[in-house]
Amino acid sequence: MCGIVGYIGSRDAYPILIKGLKRLEYRGYDSAGVALINNDDLNVYKTKGKVADLESFCEAKNISGHVGIAHTRWATHGEPSSVNAHPHYSESKNLAIIHNGIIENYAEIKNNLIAKGVKFRSDTDTEVLVQLIEYVQVKKNLDTLTAVQVALHQVIGAYAIALLDKREPNQIIAARKQSPLVVGIGENEFFLGSDASPIIEFTDKVVYLEDGSIAVMRLGEELKVVNILNRELNPLVHTIDMNLGQIEKCGYPHFMLKEIFEQPECLKNCMRGRINADADQVTLSAVIDYKERLLAAKRIIIVACGTSWHAGLIGKQLIETFCRIPVDVEYASEFRYRNPVVTKDDLVIAMSQSGETADTLAAIELAKRSGALIYGICNAVGSSIPRATDTGSYIHVGPEIGVASTKAFTGQVIVLAMLSLALAKEKGTIDDQTYNAVVKELSLIPDKMKEVLEQNDKIADLSRIFTYAHNVIYLGRGYSYPVALEGALKLKEISYIHAEGYPAAEMKHGPIALVDSDMPVVVIATHNAMYEKVLSNIQEIKARKGRVIALVTKGDETISRIADEVIELPKTLECLEPLLATIPLQLLAYHIAVCKDKNVDQPRNLAKSVTVE
Ligand code: F6R
Repeated sequence: MCGIVGYIGSRDAYPILIKGLKRLEYRGYDSAGVALINNDDLNVYKTKGKVADLESFCEAKNISGHVGIAHTRWATHGEPSSVNAHPHYSESKNLAIIHNGIIENYAEIKNNLIAKGVKFRSDTDTEVLVQLIEYVQVKKNLDTLTAVQVALHQVIGAYAIALLDKREPNQIIAARKQSPLVVGIGENEFFLGSDASPIIEFTDKVVYLEDGSIAVMRLGEELKVVNILNRELNPLVHTIDMNLGQIEKCGYPHFMLKEIFEQPECLKNCMRGRINADADQVTLSAVIDYKERLLAAKRIIIVACGTSWHAGLIGKQLIETFCRIPVDVEYASEFRYRNPVVTKDDLVIAMSQSGETADTLAAIELAKRSGALIYGICNAVGSSIPRATDTGSYIHVGPEIGVASTKAFTGQVIVLAMLSLALAKEKGTIDDQTYNAVVKELSLIPDKMKEVLEQNDKIADLSRIFTYAHNVIYLGRGYSYPVALEGALKLKEISYIHAEGYPAAEMKHGPIALVDSDMPVVVIATHNAMYEKVLSNIQEIKARKGRVIALVTKGDETISRIADEVIELPKTLECLEPLLATIPLQLLAYHIAVCKDKNVDQPRNLAKSVTVE
């Protein structure tokens, strides 16, 4: 949450900062601001609203300067407003700071500072930090770096910060603890970002700052990285493999639509080098490297949040079916606080698109203390979760920018399918015929997905009938139950229509009371082992005048006669059906939100990367 950008070099900083903020706007978008050093001035401009509002606000301002920091905010402390927007000045206005994260002991520090006469302008925890830095700097007569180190020593919480001091105009100081920060290294210039997206246009050389490190970027000097005790650290320079096309809309009206349509290609990337359909083989390097410990696992615990948690529910069914190991799927936010039983014989799989979700990271730390092997399934390369895990597999679907997760979900399911097959093969719990059939079918999924995507216009038409709805129920059974949960989540987060996913048979235990002629019910009713049961559930809904939109297997005539609307899916193996059934639900949510004129890529109150609890 919150986006951080910085620049120091010989170019004009402002255009680089604004462009960077636009690339990071998916992280938070309730207010934005910029601080620029210009000769002896440290100018801060900030406003409520989006980056475009900041640009209008800055039109008549002095935006020159070669050193600057900028921020797009997702509010935690204090409502979205110009006053609470970052950057925040210190009282003397010598310092300006931007911050992502939460300072947990901010109230205590603030009260101490107030008692010492410091005056505050905003309600934020961030201002507390910059005031603290200034207080220790003045009191102990410290240079900026030492003041930052002393102040951070007193802080409890998570942060990624960038700080300017107008008396040291050729310097940016950045620090991180539990919130990501990336430094880009150019020719006599440095870039800073919450992730690499604002940087890749300018350089492919980056340093992912480690937890607890402080980067000092000075004009004409090498990057210096130290820790809070001023011990010098060796920054590891990575070459990033990302191109601009991956983070631009490429002609699509929204990132979400682009990302939905990219799925066939993304899944090919995800399987490349791992699935060999001709040789009937799945190879995951992590399974080779950690074979013994993986095979020794007596239980698997999947920890994740939101959409990643839904993918985990599908993973449970895949792993239990093929590997015969019990799997628990836990919300990371609950797991971390409920003293769970985890042993060294457990395998903990942490799933996250962003690789930065605070709850999932905390769940990993907890599981690590019990000696369990931690396996990460993430998208963002170099992010915190892959670095915190023992081993893992990237999903390789490219940057996901639309706030509603789409291609990461199907990528996660593909990785879970590959992992379950690779493990099952090693354990001998899968017969050759099943193994070969699933491997072959996985390689056919991208083309089958394309067939589903061809129904986009039809789904767009269908979506119009939903705009009247205040509530929608999604039903599925077996592998389709998590798909129902995911369909409902997509709808509620971008259209703000209340939606719930249920296992279809649970309807009669309560939710069926909601069904009347105003209630659309989306049912995943593909031709599999549960078909007859789901058919009965549809009859029950129709008997109560519910409006049924059914996802059926191509050629199904029975359900097509009963349902009000049908969307056809190509036939595939039951265990891989989620990969196809999810697509129409993503498209449905997208088109409904567009019909309702909602901001699809940046839905209200949400942010892409949830780096706070
Ligand atoms: C839903 C969505 C969120 C995320 C959740 C976990 O569309 O995007 O529910 O899935 O915040 O995020 P990651 O996967 O980055 O850990």
